[in-house]
Amino acid sequence: MPDFRLTRRHLLASPLALAACGSAPSTPPLGPVSPLKDLAPCPVGVCGMSGQFDDAGWRDVVLTHFSQFTPEWEMKMEAILRPDRSLDFTLADRCADFATDNGLRLHGHALIWYSQGAEAFAGLDRKTFAADYDRYIREVVTRYRGRTVGWDVVNEAVAEDGDGLRTHHWSEGLGDIDHIRRAFDVAHEADPESILFLNDYNLENLPRKGATFLKLVERLLKAGTPLGGIGSQSHLDIDIPDGQITAFLREAGAFGLPVHVSELDASLRSDSRIDLRSAGERQARQTARVTELAQAFMALPPEQRYAFTVWGARDTDSWLRRDERDDGRDSPLLFDASGTATPLYDAVAGALASG
Ligand code: XIL
Repeated sequence: MPDFRLTRRHLLASPLALAACGSAPSTPPLGPVSPLKDLAPCPVGVCGMSGQFDDAGWRDVVLTHFSQFTPEWEMKMEAILRPDRSLDFTLADRCADFATDNGLRLHGHALIWYSQGAEAFAGLDRKTFAADYDRYIREVVTRYRGRTVGWDVVNEAVAEDGDGLRTHHWSEGLGDIDHIRRAFDVAHEADPESILFLNDYNLENLPRKGATFLKLVERLLKAGTPLGGIGSQSHLDIDIPDGQITAFLREAGAFGLPVHVSELDASLRSDSRIDLRSAGERQARQTARVTELAQAFMALPPEQRYAFTVWGARDTDSWLRRDERDDGRDSPLLFDASGTATPLYDAVAGALASG
């Protein structure tokens, strides 16, 4: 899994660096807070996995604060596609039913991703490769037609450093741009009502990657691709300069398409070798960046605010807390392990409520 702070080296377990980590953030947790979905004039999304559905604490946070759901894993190719390229929708159905049963909008994630599908599609002749590529997209989108408000059709198409597009089994099999256009065309034919997104990460953190992404958006639109939305994952690097986030979202918004902040989290973990800042200082940077993101999102015209989605309900639900570099103290989300609001809740609620 890629490191979302490519310009930063991993934290070395040097005594000085570890000592500088300090204790958990110093700001006391907030008390009971207003439901985010009531404060925001737009959908507020959260991701989750079917294994969390029976966790009362998780359900309480999700059903109190959020109005949109993105399956964190179950609608990805690795959860649906079997080695013989037959399809198993058991887990994806469970997620779709959770959203329907609880009145949550459902966002499908993700049809085509460089990191999945290589084994099942290995060794196929081009005709079979293309036919099964189309069939996968068509059958998945058709199954949830009328239930998914939108799909991440192609995820993470831009190269890690922003220098062009990724190359992988999909691009090698069907072409760098053609595999992307094909995915959108097939998805659109399967569900003309669904908003179809190009989704990627580090678009704010690495301006070069953001620029390449937006050039790809422009190229696809000029080619007539049914690209209906722009997804910025927003796994934020809290140490990027002020204004960088605003600049990207402003440029992304200029296409006039719906924008999805699709996977917000903001790790407090510092990957630089030495970080002598206190936990409070790092938390201030974190709050400033997330506030900037939420304010930039709210600066979009209302019709372009697809959803503001966080990548996990509670800090302990975050994939960042499952990372081998986690120190057990990271607080990248809006609610802590107990479901109590963190300062990021305040940052997001304040900005979204301003709309
Ligand atoms: C992550 C999940 O959160 C993890 O649980 C899983 O192990 C790997 O994928 N960009 C994406 C998401 O589009 O699908 C990824 O989610 C995080 C990066």
